[in-house]
Amino acid sequence: MCGIVGYIGNRDSKEVLIEGLKKLEYRGYDSAGIAVFTDNGLEIRKSKGRLAMLEDKLKNEPIAGSVGIGHTRWATHGKPSDVNSHPHTDNSSKFSVVHNGIVENYLDLKEELSAKGHIFVSETDTEVISHLIADEYHGDIVTAVQRAVKRMRGAYALGVLTEYEPTKLVAVRFASPLVIGIGENENFIGSDIPAILEYTRNVYILNDGEMAVLTRSGVELMTTNGDIISKEIFHVDWDLVTAEKAGFEHFMLKEIHEQPKAYRDTMMGRISEDGKSVVLKEIGMSNEQLRGISRIHIVACGTAFHAGLVGKTVIESLARIPVETDVASEYRYRSPIITPDTLVIVVSQSGETADTLAALREAKRNGARVLAITNVVGSSVAREADDVITTWAGPEIAVASTKAYTSQLIAFYLLGLYLAQERGMAQAQQVEEIVAAMHKLPEQVESILEQAELFKTVAEAMSKHDNLFFIGRGLDFAVAQEGSLKLKEISYIHSEAYAAGELKHGTLALIEDGIPVIALVTQEDLYEKTLSNIKEVKARGAHVLGIANAGYEGEVLKSVDEVFSIPRTLPLLTPALSVVPLQILSYHASLARGNDVDKPRNLAKSVTVE
Ligand code: F6R
Repeated sequence: MCGIVGYIGNRDSKEVLIEGLKKLEYRGYDSAGIAVFTDNGLEIRKSKGRLAMLEDKLKNEPIAGSVGIGHTRWATHGKPSDVNSHPHTDNSSKFSVVHNGIVENYLDLKEELSAKGHIFVSETDTEVISHLIADEYHGDIVTAVQRAVKRMRGAYALGVLTEYEPTKLVAVRFASPLVIGIGENENFIGSDIPAILEYTRNVYILNDGEMAVLTRSGVELMTTNGDIISKEIFHVDWDLVTAEKAGFEHFMLKEIHEQPKAYRDTMMGRISEDGKSVVLKEIGMSNEQLRGISRIHIVACGTAFHAGLVGKTVIESLARIPVETDVASEYRYRSPIITPDTLVIVVSQSGETADTLAALREAKRNGARVLAITNVVGSSVAREADDVITTWAGPEIAVASTKAYTSQLIAFYLLGLYLAQERGMAQAQQVEEIVAAMHKLPEQVESILEQAELFKTVAEAMSKHDNLFFIGRGLDFAVAQEGSLKLKEISYIHSEAYAAGELKHGTLALIEDGIPVIALVTQEDLYEKTLSNIKEVKARGAHVLGIANAGYEGEVLKSVDEVFSIPRTLPLLTPALSVVPLQILSYHASLARGNDVDKPRNLAKSVTVE
């Protein structure tokens, strides 16, 4: 998730671009750059690091002109570095491109263009776009962009400039957001409204397959097929802070709603077109090495550890490799048995968590191969691991992790299938069935989100209690642990997650009249056993909210006080759905208690101390 901005008018474009990028820094911040038409032609300044680094560079190497494009990067293809930063250009330096999204077929395009003599300097997919546009250019930039995007697969929002037509700024969108700001004798592009809100409140919101040609005096809208279209102007009446959160009250709520996109992005390019196999090109292990893995350790902290608990079941049931899970702060102190055929999987949203990094180093010191699942390309964990599966959740701002957790689950599903497939444990038909169900998950999450308001009243009632329990069996217990952590960290209500069958061995003594219990009942093979455990707490006065699969809610309601149903999927995939109501519940409980949802007390987003 990167941020793009563009300007064409009479102001100093550099000022507009930098101000716009500041508003977009929350979308990514590992490097930034701008391209501006100057008296010397198209000039580019870019720099690794925060935007402030680019500003410093601009002091030493000023740039002036009234047309330009800018970018703040959240690395996807290629580590954060000056050369991988946007804008990218072609070999003639006559074309410049900023891009948000992922071009899935960039390697094929790169190969084809290389054969024609194009020379690439970066590791990015975006550089391919600038070369492709240059290759398709025969005197008209609009046609060149249209021809180029027809050859690209994936997601993109683009801002394009060419020195041959310096009075035009071309913008195009597919599956990545892009808005056009309308001014007086000036026009703007932005990947989000905040980028341009200081200058105009009138915008066109582009849909997939639409493009805009901006000049100083106007904006022409068309489809990528070249059909001219007209659109209503959207007048923005939000303030800047609301706009940064895309209209949501908090980043956490925005990120909960971004989960369908995070699922799609994390799956994108990792499933074969026929849906019969998983393609994890990022894993550099040979088939022999994959077959040689005798055990797996999953190591992580907090929410990432909870994703690992699901990962254990997924890998064990699909690939039949024994898996142990450890919290990273304990791992290296228990002298884990690590052999050369142990695969250690570290999971970390930030890729900077000190304990996780120390566990990774311990594993490597002992000769294990380390695979990282992380959300931040170029993070310490990503750099030091042998193989990396990146979760494409985009930057997570709220301290309470939501979309990073669920994208980690998607990564585990992909990995479990891949290991099973490569080790000959899964038939194409089984992979196909799971993959088909995975493709449905984003829509199923959307349907849960549509009912989010239902949780307000339940959460308000819950917020009046000081103690609460989550129970479940099997994968439901793994999700219960994440639900409990979410609630604790933002609502400050004490809660405990228990394996439903374990309560009677002591903890049942804490159940008293009116205590809320959230019971996950989604694992159909364990369904009756969990209902018996629910009856145990009900008999002692608990007020039970059940989370059940659609079709089972009527039956479950006979044993609980309230029930919320989630769409049906394969049992292994249920965590990717059942956690969503728990996230929403925690959010509303925190609000009801008047807490700072995005920045809970005593916590930091990235824990870089041991
Ligand atoms: C809770 C939460 C934390 C993190 C943990 C690990 O919502 O976000 O428990 O999961 O601090 O962080 P990463 O994944 O960055 O290593």
